[in-house]
Amino acid sequence: MAEGNKDWIWDRYWRFDRIASCFDSAGSNYPAEFEAEWNAFFRKLPRGAAILDLCTGNGAIARMAAKFSGKSSQSFKITGVDRAGIDPDKYVTSDGNDPAITYLGGVSAERLPFENAALDAVISQYGFEYTDHDKTLAEISRVLKPGGRGKLVCHAAEGTPAANGRVEVRTITTVTNDLDLFRLAGKAITAAWGSEKEGRELSSAEKQDMKAFGAAMGGLSDALEKEPNNPFLQAAYGLLRHTFKVREHFPLETLMEKIEDIKAETRAHLGRIKALLEASLTEDDCRALKQTLESYRFGDVLWTRFALDGGAKLAGWNFEFRRVAK
Ligand SMILES: C[S@@+](CC[C@H](N)C(=O)[O-])C[C@H]1O[C@@H](n2cnc3c(N)ncnc32)[C@H](O)[C@@H]1O
Repeated sequence: MAEGNKDWIWDRYWRFDRIASCFDSAGSNYPAEFEAEWNAFFRKLPRGAAILDLCTGNGAIARMAAKFSGKSSQSFKITGVDRAGIDPDKYVTSDGNDPAITYLGGVSAERLPFENAALDAVISQYGFEYTDHDKTLAEISRVLKPGGRGKLVCHAAEGTPAANGRVEVRTITTVTNDLDLFRLAGKAITAAWGSEKEGRELSSAEKQDMKAFGAAMGGLSDALEKEPNNPFLQAAYGLLRHTFKVREHFPLETLMEKIEDIKAETRAHLGRIKALLEASLTEDDCRALKQTLESYRFGDVLWTRFALDGGAKLAGWNFEFRRVAK
């Protein structure tokens, strides 16, 4: 999970008991509207279909395919691949491990470990758009059987996750950079811990450190009042408070490691939001992608809005297509 590895932000995210990467309802899979959207596609697949879920993460969509298959006795064989070091069977406990799904980590969408024409369907949600579009489409075209189907749900630049992401980046950057939160947390804990261990009063410099940290936490608390539904900030606030509160029970080194860990999680979180914003597709991007799909000899190319709450929230762009029979 070293930060030098370009996938560390996702390695870190998926080695945790969670399934969705946004619209997250406390670790569980995406809301029912997502399942309805995907089930409409799964209904079109033949019995026993071999399905590949690209950029699967902890298998959100692979799980929906397995659930659909189980209920309809379709006997799908599902493989979920991701370039990150995923291991959903180990980390996800809330949604049993389905033997119909095989997960493979360390697999790039641009280089798939499948024979030509091996698959009935290639699917991806909030994944394809992160990859090199041309290389991935060439691979999808290679591994799909003639007549095989594709469905890609992609982040929209004007969609709800991107809009929320832009607000989050602003707030988190302000809180962590402008308020210098983690450096001040380290200094305040060091000051309080040292004076208590040595049974002495705080020096005036240490009092300043404590005051500065208190002010930064006040700033974080103000930000939370403005954005009460920001679970990331809430968690950071709670963890910092807790680390400060339990200081007497731990060596200083352990406390500093905890602060570093909260800081690394913040960097990873910001990295994931920035990656989402970079990957998100504008309407112009979608028009171009539709043309690219057609240039790869995919037929029946469909580009639609995928909206929630009766159309109020744009969840993404939906692309469906078929591999043209030779
Ligand atoms: C936003 S998550 C989506 C996960 C899941 N499909 C979902 O719907 O929640 C994006 C995933 O794409 C993966 N990814 C990004 N670029 C990739 C690539 N070139 N090849 C394979 N996986 C990639 C990341 O590791 C990450 O797990």
